Amino acid sequence: MSAAFRGQITLDGPSGTGKSTVARGVAARLRAAYLDTGAMYRAATVAVLDAAVDPEDADAVARTVAAARIEVGTGSAAEVVRVDGVDVADRIRGAAVTRAVSAVSAVPAVRRQLVDQQRDLVSAADVVVVEGRDIGTVVLPDATLKVYLTAAPGVRAQRRAGQLGITDPAEIAALADDLRRRDEYDSSRVDSPLRPADDAVVVDSTDLDQQGVIEAIVALAASAVGAGERA
Ligand code: DC
Repeated sequence: MSAAFRGQITLDGPSGTGKSTVARGVAARLRAAYLDTGAMYRAATVAVLDAAVDPEDADAVARTVAAARIEVGTGSAAEVVRVDGVDVADRIRGAAVTRAVSAVSAVPAVRRQLVDQQRDLVSAADVVVVEGRDIGTVVLPDATLKVYLTAAPGVRAQRRAGQLGITDPAEIAALADDLRRRDEYDSSRVDSPLRPADDAVVVDSTDLDQQGVIEAIVALAASAVGAGERA
């Protein structure tokens, strides 16, 4: 029975794969806690932009983020994201944050701070789904089940366009360029690059709808029941 799953599920992969919807769906099915680590890097980016700090100035970024109080919720239903007590759940999805977040998340001191916070949040839960880029490789190397979600780049751009209501082919091509640029940046950074963990199950969602991906991961979790007790 999937409800008997105990442990940590990591869900890593590039943007535009439907990772967040899938992670929330899996968490809801397993009655698990859910942590969106991308939301934490986005919240850190809000702090940097509000302090008028250049996102490429690593020292200033590190200082600014160290001084910020970043809070995220661990429920799968409502999104709670605050910086210094202020609700930024909407702002973190805006274009300015999306443009700057790769640079902020490449700063090692920022990663150390947020990874510590992620481990604290996760340790409080018996069953948890954690999504990001480096969860299976760095944050939770002993997780019970590791999934790496991919999809063909063209399909990812189409899905992102659908979410944003964009139909103009030139705008879709620009989205595809932006996805490529962020993948390149996230995969080639020195600290915790985006890559599948050696023991991750790679799930390709190119030809699956989101419900199909959720079912596939719930089935993987069911077959991992008991692994959490052994870990
Ligand atoms: O998943 P997302 O698009 O909300 O992530 C925003 C950015 O944060 C993304 O460009 C990469 C970075 N990120 C990261 O470096 N490590 C994580 N664990 C999660 C996100």
